[in-house]
Amino acid sequence: MKPLLVLCVLLAPLRAHEGRITPDVAEDARVSYEGSQLLKVTARTEGQKEALHKLQDMEGVDTWLRLAINSSTVDVLVKPETADKVKEFLGSSGLTFDVVIDNLQAAIDTENPTMSPEEMEELEGRKGHRMTWQSYHPLADIHGYLDYLAQTYPQFVTLQTIGTSVEGRPLKVLKISSNRPGSPAIWIDGGIHAREWISPASVTYIINELTENRDAHGEAVKNVDWYILPVLNPDGYEYSHRVDRLWRKNRHVNGKCAGTDLNRNFGYKWGGVGSSREPCQETFAGSHPFSEPESAAVSSFIQNQAGSLKVYLSFHSYGQYILHPWGYIRAVPRDHADLSRVGRNIATAMYQAGGASYTVGGAAAMLYPAAGASDDWAKGAARIKYTYTIELRDRGSFGFILPVQYILPTAREALAAVKTLASEIANVR
Ligand code: ARG
Ligand code: ZN
Repeated sequence: MKPLLVLCVLLAPLRAHEGRITPDVAEDARVSYEGSQLLKVTARTEGQKEALHKLQDMEGVDTWLRLAINSSTVDVLVKPETADKVKEFLGSSGLTFDVVIDNLQAAIDTENPTMSPEEMEELEGRKGHRMTWQSYHPLADIHGYLDYLAQTYPQFVTLQTIGTSVEGRPLKVLKISSNRPGSPAIWIDGGIHAREWISPASVTYIINELTENRDAHGEAVKNVDWYILPVLNPDGYEYSHRVDRLWRKNRHVNGKCAGTDLNRNFGYKWGGVGSSREPCQETFAGSHPFSEPESAAVSSFIQNQAGSLKVYLSFHSYGQYILHPWGYIRAVPRDHADLSRVGRNIATAMYQAGGASYTVGGAAAMLYPAAGASDDWAKGAARIKYTYTIELRDRGSFGFILPVQYILPTAREALAAVKTLASEIANVR
């Protein structure tokens, strides 16, 4: 060993995360978004919409929000190296744009102020865990919180590891039980996409309300069995905290690129439109259906709940949409009147809870088609009636980099959605 390397190894603090010991020196350097801009680009004619479609898939452009059927804008992140090329294309197509975020790195730097170690210790001593909903927490805090709940409320809370991620992190599902045999059940997941931090934040808030504040929410929520996986993609989530804030996929290495889009890897109409065979793309569907341990574990667990699950709900961000199947095709299932009616009830409840407007519709019919998503599998293969994907706040002022003061209002909306679904299937009000 070279002397310098020996020194580095000796000085490197060893960090244990969930069974693995990783020296900090082995971590990649943080990705910088210095000078990257978020643009909201508007089309006014059909021809310009065509140009928007081209822009979305242009090299060097990261599309945050694709063109939805009834919309005329897309949100794109443009790196300084490609800014000239992109702006030239916009000009020549007659597209206009607003610079929504001028320097993304500055937005990232102020998004998530974290507590001092002293404050954190004080909090943990007082409450028994570190979750606050005043900041976005690393995976260890979320998992520590689930452990705390299982220990504190053994009468109705149990914790199960349903599988392991590519890098060996546990997939932890919290069950909140009605303690009545034969109760209808609700599945909720968050964090399929790594960078959508408001999703695990909202799902853990829901967990908090259904456990520590159990009596405040009426009878329906107590008559349901809840299965909740707040971080479906733990490797991606950690990577988005430590290395690249805008990471979306899991961390499976496929040749020269890393990451499969877990929301294109589910085994119903897998590989169709809106998903990619190319491992370097953001929507890479994986080598085959359920090629990823994260999606495979979720599907086996759900399939084993043998008909008790009446709701499948997946939280993403952003755009403020309540989406129901289908997502792979612009058609709607036979019972779409039910899905649409309950979807509209959810929207009303969310608006009353937090003040944001959510738009309801079929995922492909209203947003854009994308095959291999978890919702289509839940409806088409697992045959769960009330299947929804909810895109939480906002509508593109901050996008994925939603400042922490929006966690609570957004999470209250998410809780209202979940309570609406519980009332619907528990049939008590
Ligand atoms: N933003 C989500 C995604 O791209 C939307 C998924 C909606 N569902 C669907 N089956 N397309 O993954
Ligand atoms: Zn997503």
